[in-house]
Amino acid sequence: MTGLFVTLEGIDRSGKTTQTALLLDALGDDAVGVREPGGTPAGERVRDLLKDPAVKLSPEGEALLFAAARAQLVRDVIRPALAEGRVVVSDRYLDSSLAYQGSARGLGVEAIEAVNTFATGGLQPDLTLLLDLDPAVAASRAGEEDRFEQAGLQRKVHAAYGELVAADSRRWRRIDADRDPAEVHHDVLAAVRAAREAPAGAAG
Ligand code: TMP
Repeated sequence: MTGLFVTLEGIDRSGKTTQTALLLDALGDDAVGVREPGGTPAGERVRDLLKDPAVKLSPEGEALLFAAARAQLVRDVIRPALAEGRVVVSDRYLDSSLAYQGSARGLGVEAIEAVNTFATGGLQPDLTLLLDLDPAVAASRAGEEDRFEQAGLQRKVHAAYGELVAADSRRWRRIDADRDPAEVHHDVLAAVRAAREAPAGAAG
């Protein structure tokens, strides 16, 4: 029995965290929720490091820390849950590294893909939901500032997600996030249910 691996992606303040919580609630005990970076004791400490603006990090160092947290999460939480046949819902996964570090920070999507293939053993989501929101709308939503939230960076990340969707439209579903959270949730849940009902390897 293998489960279903669902990831939610989007620029900062696109509503992923709210939508992850609503989805987990709707799926019930069958589902396991994780967040990136984080989700393990080591990963949560890496998260604190990454989110602290007082800690100076090179783009390469940043990319490797995200990959390190991900490696731990995949081994300790995601693979065991999938092996039990559960639905794993992750608030961000490797596409965040491809979009933020690979494209927006300019490290190159191929280099980030290589590092992450090593980190995850090549584990890919079955379904990835892009919560699509205009960066200008996202900027007008309140929230605390951190090192990833500069407007220019968010525009580049938004464009990078567009390219990732175009390159693998079978795995991705684009969801309009500029709506009431309940409406967004309706579409998120419908996409996950469709993927669960599809035969293995045919999430699209
Ligand atoms: P979040 O918990 O609000 O999504 O914050 C995580 C921040 O880290 C967000 O700005 C996106 C960024 N990030 C990356 O740059 N690369 C990654 O691989 C991940 C998982 C997150």
